[in-house]
Amino acid sequence: MGEYPRVEVREGLASIIVPDLSKYVVGNRPEPAHAPVFYNPRMEVNRSLSIAIINGYVNYVGRTGITICEPLSGSGVRAVRYAREVNGVLRVVANDISERAYELIKLNVDRNGLNDVVNVYRDDANNLLLRIAREGGCDVIDIDPFGSPQPFIENSLRAIRDQGLLCVTATDVGVLSGKYY
Ligand SMILES: C[S@@+](CC[C@H](N)C(=O)[O-])C[C@H]1O[C@@H](n2cnc3c(N)ncnc32)[C@H](O)[C@@H]1O
Repeated sequence: MGEYPRVEVREGLASIIVPDLSKYVVGNRPEPAHAPVFYNPRMEVNRSLSIAIINGYVNYVGRTGITICEPLSGSGVRAVRYAREVNGVLRVVANDISERAYELIKLNVDRNGLNDVVNVYRDDANNLLLRIAREGGCDVIDIDPFGSPQPFIENSLRAIRDQGLLCVTATDVGVLSGKYY
């Protein structure tokens, strides 16, 4: 893995390694997009809300053996938290196109003892989604890209099982309202 300053953080039931954001400051604020691997501590609440919603969905549909796919994983914090905090989870697929992100996800999965639950890939998100679709799909797809989620919606719908749940996050609200692309 490329060398860069890293720190350990705790979020929910996960303990993960992420880039040391104090080294990537713009103005007087840490800028996650400038770090070698994306991790935004300000999105912790967003991740916790997703977990609460997925747990509500699991209760509602009454399924066990839930499968979750996160095609744009960054540090892997979300995938690790899903594996730890979602009730009845069978398998989580974590993926990122970046080599550094892929290496960090593998490290974080391993240090949380989740090698049997989380499968880690380095692929383009749309390729991964099409492969998941061919292999039978997942119950939950969570897309959390830079910029607009639009390029990943169509293949997410192909990869989601009947009565599945699609989670879409976009940090920049302007993107969701169509102001930026
Ligand atoms: C906003 S970050 C993900 C944050 C993560 N979901 C979390 O909760 O911390 C978006 C990630 O998508 C990755 N990415 C960008 N384009 C991609 C693509 N076409 N396929 C797969 N990953 C991609 C980036 O490397 C980056 O790590």
